Amino acid sequence: MSEAPWTIGRLLNWTADFLRERGADSPRLDAEVLLAHARGCPRIALYTAFEEPASEELRTQFRELVKQRAAGKPVAYLVGHREFFSLSFDVTPDVLIPRPETEGLVVRALDLLKETPSPAPRVADVGTGSGAIAVALAKQNPKVQVTAIDVSPAALAVARGNAEKHGVTDRIEFVEGDLLAGVDAGAAFDLIAANLPYVTSNELGELAEGVRKYEPRLALDGGEQGDELIQRLLPQATQRLTPGGWLLMELSPMIAGRVEQLIDNAAGLIRHETLKDTNGLARLAQAQREA
Ligand SMILES: C[S@@+](CC[C@H](N)C(=O)[O-])C[C@H]1O[C@@H](n2cnc3c(N)ncnc32)[C@H](O)[C@@H]1O
Repeated sequence: MSEAPWTIGRLLNWTADFLRERGADSPRLDAEVLLAHARGCPRIALYTAFEEPASEELRTQFRELVKQRAAGKPVAYLVGHREFFSLSFDVTPDVLIPRPETEGLVVRALDLLKETPSPAPRVADVGTGSGAIAVALAKQNPKVQVTAIDVSPAALAVARGNAEKHGVTDRIEFVEGDLLAGVDAGAAFDLIAANLPYVTSNELGELAEGVRKYEPRLALDGGEQGDELIQRLLPQATQRLTPGGWLLMELSPMIAGRVEQLIDNAAGLIRHETLKDTNGLARLAQAQREA
């Protein structure tokens, strides 16, 4: 008896089982995203094509993607993009894949910017990576002017591309440099957002394989205690904030207590409540410059 033909539906079922056995967290979704990518169609279009035969060419292309996924490479790097704040961001292995937790920072920043008296609020996104925060803010608030900073020129190139993709290059300035050191001496910000690396040295080795092997170390490594960059940013941010301006910093519950202490000890900053993410974990430190 001849084997059943490879249809889109059969390919998906087989691949989801295969990825599940190899420990993928979302095997069915991964299979669908990868097949849609190989087929050059939106994922939703697969649902009306289950009975369609899958060509040899499509199967070859898909097999290569599945092989890499099974080896641990994140889907976002395989397809070259990831959704963040309902916008599609291009990603390469030079940038961290934007995480849903970071959307909380954007929501909080947008709320605070609504209350800012300035008609064209100035925002800095320190450690912009793919430009996720900078672009989402510029897209959602047509008045803001953003300075997007990263120490990695390769990351900045990706961020620039994303700003172009979403039509906000006229309101985002890109600066290569260490924290705020490369920003114009006179620049003052109404809000500074920072999702800097905050993984501690101990945690680095325990990260999921897909993160540890594929995402840039420069985007993860927060030094021995995880707060090295945050610690250095605090005095710089205090200097660059307008009176009453806000500093929002993403963190992990692991370092939340230390960061709160650092803010309490920083001259000129008032600490506000650390906000939790949707999983109930401490995720967003908040400080305000004294008025
Ligand atoms: C955790 S990633 C965040 C990327 C992006 N903002 C996001 O939320 O998806 C941290 C970023 O900080 C950058 N970075 C690391 N050290 C830095 C430094 N000293 N100054 C500026 N950027 C830095 C890394 O290159 C990386 O792009």
